[in-house]
Amino acid sequence: MATSGLIQFDEWADLYARRVEVMRTSAVRDLFAAASRSDIISLSGGMPDIRRLPLEQVSEVAAHAVRQEGVAGLQYGDTTGRTQTKELICRLMEDLDIHILPEDLTVTTGAQQALDLLAKTFINPGDVIITEGPTYLGALQAFSAYQPDIRTIAFDEEGMRTDLLEATLSELGPRTVKFIYTVPTFQNPGGVTMSLARRRRLLELARAYEILVIEDDPYGRLRFEGEPVPCLRSLDREVVYLGTVSKMFAPGLRTGWVIAPRPILQKLNMVKQGTDLCGSALCQVIVEHYFGETPWRETLADMMEKYRQRRDAMLEALEEFFPPEATWTHPAGGFFVWVTLPPYVDTPQMLSVALDAGVTFVPGDGCYPAGSNQGRNAMRIAFCYEEPEALREAVRRLSLVIEERLALYRAFIAAGVL
Ligand SMILES: Cc1ncc(COP(=O)(O)O)c(C=O)c1O
Repeated sequence: MATSGLIQFDEWADLYARRVEVMRTSAVRDLFAAASRSDIISLSGGMPDIRRLPLEQVSEVAAHAVRQEGVAGLQYGDTTGRTQTKELICRLMEDLDIHILPEDLTVTTGAQQALDLLAKTFINPGDVIITEGPTYLGALQAFSAYQPDIRTIAFDEEGMRTDLLEATLSELGPRTVKFIYTVPTFQNPGGVTMSLARRRRLLELARAYEILVIEDDPYGRLRFEGEPVPCLRSLDREVVYLGTVSKMFAPGLRTGWVIAPRPILQKLNMVKQGTDLCGSALCQVIVEHYFGETPWRETLADMMEKYRQRRDAMLEALEEFFPPEATWTHPAGGFFVWVTLPPYVDTPQMLSVALDAGVTFVPGDGCYPAGSNQGRNAMRIAFCYEEPEALREAVRRLSLVIEERLALYRAFIAAGVL
């Protein structure tokens, strides 16, 4: 009998592993269905605007790739990725002052797989790891499956607060933390970029306390103003670096990479064998041809101009519509703005009202470890996908929902209830 649409009793509930009990589904993934409704303006997903890719060129590249290398592309491949793909990634990394050989990296199924492989390789239940707070919710999902004790460090407009990091580390002591995970450039969800001074301090602390640093850098090339700040990996060869084509080309090709010291890479490769044997060679062939044969830098520059206009539209709308009690970050690149509202606004509760008002966002609590009860008065809003007019309208709709909450709060205060 078809059960679609019915809620089915879970008769397997006592069989699931403990790691599944502590896992949460991603608020963003859950919102995908709602976001596809035509009356909704979505500020929730971090989707690159692939509508602006030259699809004719991409299809030519894909057809050419299959014709030329279909036999290899459709076969099982090397677990670590195709040599040609690794050579291409080495060339791309030169732009960021990272000088490596193909043997220093493994191609992964998106940077997301690298997060899972790292967690599987390093985390025993109860191990302490450190992330920014808030942090990328997909990283929290990948890590929490292995049941770590996640400590979060707040950021400001200069990125992770290294003074707070130092306080946490001095409490924990050397070699007690498995790794520090950071998205230093155009952070997800914060949009902030770690200053060079903080980067140097982070690396100093990591060395002093003998802690591995994982730098996740999907947005590094998506800068629309200001000067680039060197990657952590370019400052320290022991940093594990994660890259991806998802935001600079297309996430559908699921092609990312991890650069790591060779002993770590060996372990990751072993773990990867058990996960997927190898990534999609066909996707890698398409990636090689796209970056090898199309004017991808111009395509990206054209997209960056659009992202900048959208960022401007969002910041202007926030200024115009949001209440004076709200604060938000001012990203110089990437996809996201992080908004902090007064403590009595509960963004997880607000989401269903916002959906009725025709707008979605990511409630802030999803960007903190489960059960930490942080971020409930914050939200991540993305400016990457919608046009400026739609962004303005979305922010206006959101402001009305927030205003209702503020009015209620003020009424309670006036009535002496609070
Ligand atoms: C910080 C961060 N890391 C990793 C990923 C995953 O990227 P990929 O598509 O390469 O798996 C994302 C995607 O949004 C991200 O924002």
